[in-house]
Amino acid sequence: MALSKINPTKLSSWKKLVQQFDKENNHHINDFFKEENNRVDEFSVSWNNFYVDFSKNRLSNNTFNLLISLCKETNLRDNIDKYFNGSVINETESRAVLHTALRSSGNDGVNKTLNKIINISDKINNGDRLGYTGKKITDVVNVGIGGSHLGPEMVTEALSYYSKGIKAHFISNIDPDFTSKILEKINPETTIFIIVSKTFSTIETIENANKVKAWFIDSASEDFLNDHFICISNNIEATKKFGVSSENILSIPEWVGGRFSLWGSVGLVISIVIGSKNFKDFLRGANEMDIHFKSSPFEKNISVVLALISIWYNNFFKCETEVVIPYSQFLSKLPDYLQQASMESNGKSIDRSGEKVNYETGSIVWGSTGTNAQHAFFQLMHQGTKIIPSDFIAFKKSLHNDSDQHKILNSNFLAQTNALMMGKSTSGEDIHKNIDGNKPSNSIVINKLDPFNLGSLIAMYENKIFTIGSILNVFSFDQWGVELGKSIAKEILAGKDKSLDKSTKKTSDQLKK
Ligand code: F6P
Repeated sequence: MALSKINPTKLSSWKKLVQQFDKENNHHINDFFKEENNRVDEFSVSWNNFYVDFSKNRLSNNTFNLLISLCKETNLRDNIDKYFNGSVINETESRAVLHTALRSSGNDGVNKTLNKIINISDKINNGDRLGYTGKKITDVVNVGIGGSHLGPEMVTEALSYYSKGIKAHFISNIDPDFTSKILEKINPETTIFIIVSKTFSTIETIENANKVKAWFIDSASEDFLNDHFICISNNIEATKKFGVSSENILSIPEWVGGRFSLWGSVGLVISIVIGSKNFKDFLRGANEMDIHFKSSPFEKNISVVLALISIWYNNFFKCETEVVIPYSQFLSKLPDYLQQASMESNGKSIDRSGEKVNYETGSIVWGSTGTNAQHAFFQLMHQGTKIIPSDFIAFKKSLHNDSDQHKILNSNFLAQTNALMMGKSTSGEDIHKNIDGNKPSNSIVINKLDPFNLGSLIAMYENKIFTIGSILNVFSFDQWGVELGKSIAKEILAGKDKSLDKSTKKTSDQLKK
């Protein structure tokens, strides 16, 4: 069964939202607090180790209720069921979307792959799987791009506190200088290479894989390939041709999209770095968030609420972007990860009925860590002409129990959300120092940056992305837009650049000079 195909702008809740926006778009968030006595309680969710406060938004209770009606009118509940039950909701590729199954334990194939992940990572960490000269493995190099890179790198860095000692490196770009630099840092005797590509045909990954393989054979021998190379793919034939045997091949089921794949075999590097027990906790955290998403009423459903807020700003205030600010340096790669997860999913302009949309779909997602971001782009957020809806993420406890410094970090988090909303009136003094405030933010407070909670946080965003796509009536799980550039690059490489437009042709000629 497919997802519903409903143009949201035709619905009565949407039409009422248009009127509501006309009425309220100039209101100050502060006024909503004055008018709505229980605003903080009503506009917050406490769940497991999370506290999410969305009261600092340009959103009245009435607007919120209309957004909840929008969920109902677009059959969100039914669509969520189809997302979890394996319906073919990725219609343009005729596939189910079941990455959520990778973090629950009900599927035999999933369990088999998980056991393989545990087995490989335990053997490497325990010293039962050694390099070709009998030395313990010290480094692992993940070769992959997009979904085969961003998630694994983000998570291994985010959870580096839990590292068992093996160092992770990531080669994604087809930049020969970068690949060479990584190779300079590692020793073939003590390095495992993981080649990750769902299709096993992505040019960047295949070229880099061949390069590291040649480098390895040069120092060792082809005979030792199976001791040092693991392939992760849906294209088993191609991985065999690459030269590894089945015990070193992990599959990616067809129903797992690249950008949602870190929960399964693509997460092998994570399990190697943080250990299999922590990896299982990471999966459990995500699974619990899925249960919350499936079973909570929309008003108190974290992913649904965040999705509705995003739709409200994007479609009514016409905010083009939304920013993510984690107050943890370890989460510096979270914005990049979310950028792909979100923009590749909902950056569409044809709806599920095949019509051109007459409204906004996916927003531009970006961000950086607090406090660094405060010293970079916050000026524009406070005094610029744009409204930038924001997610602030903070942790109650530091990992190293340095409460003094952690207090400074968190006081900045609090200060910024407060300042964005309240601003500061200089009443007639220097107008340049006046700050209007009324800038929105969500506060996401989590107990601690640990595997379980990080799993929940990522699943929270994945389910937000699903909800946005479901309501905005787009297919969130294909990515046809990235294919065109890939095929043109192939033609250029093959010397067929005659069909290029005049501008690109001239630039191409310049590059050849
Ligand atoms: O850039 C598009 C894309 O298909 C992503 O969705 C995917 O994560 C990435 O390329 C890598 O693909 P593969 O895992 O097949 O190499």
